[in-house]
Amino acid sequence: MQTILGLDFGSSNIVVVMQNEGLILKESNLVSVRRTTNGYTLECVGNQSNKLLGKTGDNITTFSPVGFGEIVSFDYAVILLKQLLEKIHLKPSFLNPIKLVLLLPVGMQEQEIQKYMELCHAVKIKDVVIVPGIIASALGENINISANSAKMVVDIGGGTIDCAVINMNHVVCGSTLALGGRTLDSMIVEFIQKKYGVTIGLKTAQNLKEDIGSLYQNDSSTMQVSCIDNETMLVDTIEVSAKDVFDSMTMFLDELIRVIETTIIQLPPELAADVTRNGITITGGYSKIVGLEKYLRTKLGINILVSNESDIAAQKGLTRLVNNINLLETVTQK
Ligand SMILES: Nc1ncnc2c1ncn2[C@@H]1O[C@H](COP(=O)(O)OP(=O)(O)OP(=O)(O)O)[C@@H](O)[C@H]1O
Ligand SMILES: [Mg+2]
Repeated sequence: MQTILGLDFGSSNIVVVMQNEGLILKESNLVSVRRTTNGYTLECVGNQSNKLLGKTGDNITTFSPVGFGEIVSFDYAVILLKQLLEKIHLKPSFLNPIKLVLLLPVGMQEQEIQKYMELCHAVKIKDVVIVPGIIASALGENINISANSAKMVVDIGGGTIDCAVINMNHVVCGSTLALGGRTLDSMIVEFIQKKYGVTIGLKTAQNLKEDIGSLYQNDSSTMQVSCIDNETMLVDTIEVSAKDVFDSMTMFLDELIRVIETTIIQLPPELAADVTRNGITITGGYSKIVGLEKYLRTKLGINILVSNESDIAAQKGLTRLVNNINLLETVTQK
């Protein structure tokens, strides 16, 4: 019996779903290695690595082998995937074949797609079908993708902004920007450094973004965070405001607006009219930022749709796909 799995190798989160089971694994896309006198040894992967972030000395490095929509370190990507599959007791083999539904960003070059295929082959998964991640996100949001009425979906994850227009089961126009929540974390660190002369960790920046980040410019939330004073090099505490977080995100927000506008401009008039009428659905982790719907609606003049579970739209759509082979057939990238 063939096992049907779905894999979303996101820049922040790796999600695995199984036919009839639903979500079976969600782990951080991270690998930690320890430097030794003879080179590097594997320390840990996934959620365990996440716990180490910002808490280790120079001898341990934690990184994402897949990020911003591409495989950065093939060998560590293989190690990570293999370990995670073992964790859920899956050992693909001739006797235990796996069919994998793999989500990828829109507009990926053939060469990069081949690398993802090789990654799957390296963990002994031979039968791989590719579906654009944005289609899974649309399905997760219960969008009727088969209709002849174009819908725009924008997924904002940890490493990419995937912006696409879907009509009659296919992506008719779309692009991927190598910008995401992780880029924002670095931008927040930089902003705080310049404004307050202190250094905060990336994890602290991520917490600021998720806990007080807001696109309402008059949001008065604040948060105390630990930092290192750049002059004295001593540990200190500063109060960061929601306005600080907003100010560090302006370049990112400008790019987000630009990619949406550019995509709409490229559309034939009928499809552009559909998108304007249907509104734009936002998914991915960043869709949870406070005030996103109003911010985009005001900037674009188009209705913006953000659901309660918009952050797990791709996972929900992938689950629908592994459970419905006919649906999978209609959206598989040939
Ligand atoms: N409430 C929130 N406000 C802002 N950002 C958030 C919030 N919750 C999660 N995020 C961010 O969402 C990102 C993760 O989103 P997601 O899980 O969709 O990414 P991914 O699928 O792994 O990455 P990608 O699709 O870009 O490859 C992280 O950067 C995280 O900090
Ligand atoms: Mg994603």
